[in-house]
Amino acid sequence: MPIPGWMRASEDKYVRPVTTPRDVPVALLGYGAVGSAVDRHLRRHQGELAAATGLRLRVVHALVRDLTKERAYPALDGVLTTSFERILGDGQVVAVAELMGGIDTSRRYIDLLLGRGKQVATANKQLLATDGHDLLGRVRIGGSVCGAIPLVETLVRGLPPGACTRVSGVVNGTTNFLLARMESGSSRAEALEEARRRRYVERDPTEDLSGADAAAKMAIIATLAFGDPVTLDDVAFEGIDQLDEHAVREAQSRGKALRLVGIATRREVTVKVTELDASHPFALLCDADNAVLLEGTGFRQLLLAGPGAGGEETASAVVADLFELVR
Ligand SMILES: NC(=O)c1ccc[n+]([C@@H]2O[C@H](COP(=O)([O-])OP(=O)(O)OC[C@H]3O[C@@H](n4cnc5c(N)ncnc54)[C@H](OP(=O)(O)O)[C@@H]3O)[C@@H](O)[C@H]2O)c1
Repeated sequence: MPIPGWMRASEDKYVRPVTTPRDVPVALLGYGAVGSAVDRHLRRHQGELAAATGLRLRVVHALVRDLTKERAYPALDGVLTTSFERILGDGQVVAVAELMGGIDTSRRYIDLLLGRGKQVATANKQLLATDGHDLLGRVRIGGSVCGAIPLVETLVRGLPPGACTRVSGVVNGTTNFLLARMESGSSRAEALEEARRRRYVERDPTEDLSGADAAAKMAIIATLAFGDPVTLDDVAFEGIDQLDEHAVREAQSRGKALRLVGIATRREVTVKVTELDASHPFALLCDADNAVLLEGTGFRQLLLAGPGAGGEETASAVVADLFELVR
């Protein structure tokens, strides 16, 4: 199959036609860390994106709660709105990215958008891991796990069906950042403070530290890898709440590293603090990076690693999803 957007010039040659980019109005539900980063990416990289695809995606509405809030990256005039109906009723908008978080309202909005025939992308792992399995085939979810790493695409389209037998990974960037910083000499409190300064951590870090964020991601990963729905309730998980710099350094003194590792097989899905050899690829991850090791028939082992947390990194996956939706 030729690359989308390319045309056949002769028997064995495809070329990318030079045309005026087609204007495609899109909308966002949410203009926080991820939503504003999606808008920024589309505006800053408009030229490259249009040259590569022939499409000019333009954010025309972004749903927020508070229009008066000061924003690090302000939207263009008239884009922010508190009216979901305005987005739902805009016939020009064909694709919408849900980037609000939460479960009930976002689920209701996604259903209404799909009911109106709009294409939807979401980065909402909480929703997908609790009340969203039926959405998996109907919306694009690239931003919901592992930030910029194209893990969903690899699991869904990149491997022979049913080939995957085990997936393991470090899928929470915040806890990885804290553990790596404690290995480099910071106390737990200093590491947490630095993570806050770098915006790796929410004001309430409970979801990250308790392992619930990693468990939600592993539930989605297991569902995609093995086909049967796995919810957050099916995942046995722990976090790094009890770990301090002394435990981290004690392991380090024995040539080991502590990491919060998720493991999914057809039988069970877990997230646990795990002691690894210091040379293990998961132990070598620094900052808020993620890594996932896929194992299975034929391909044997596949290691994907890269930036796994943060608004900008997640926006990379959401922008990819939006282009897939409107193509
Ligand atoms: N941040 C990350 O690194 C990351 C990574 C992967 C996935 N995600 C997922 O991406 C989603 C968004 O995360 P985020 O970090 O961007 O969140 P955030 O910074 O808290 O932004 C949420 C946005 O949604 C708006 N919003 C929330 N509830 C709303 C409602 N009921 N009606 C209208 N607007 C509403 C907020 O409006 P106001 O601005 O007016 O408050 C805000 O603009 C979440 O599902 C999260 O799990 C985030």
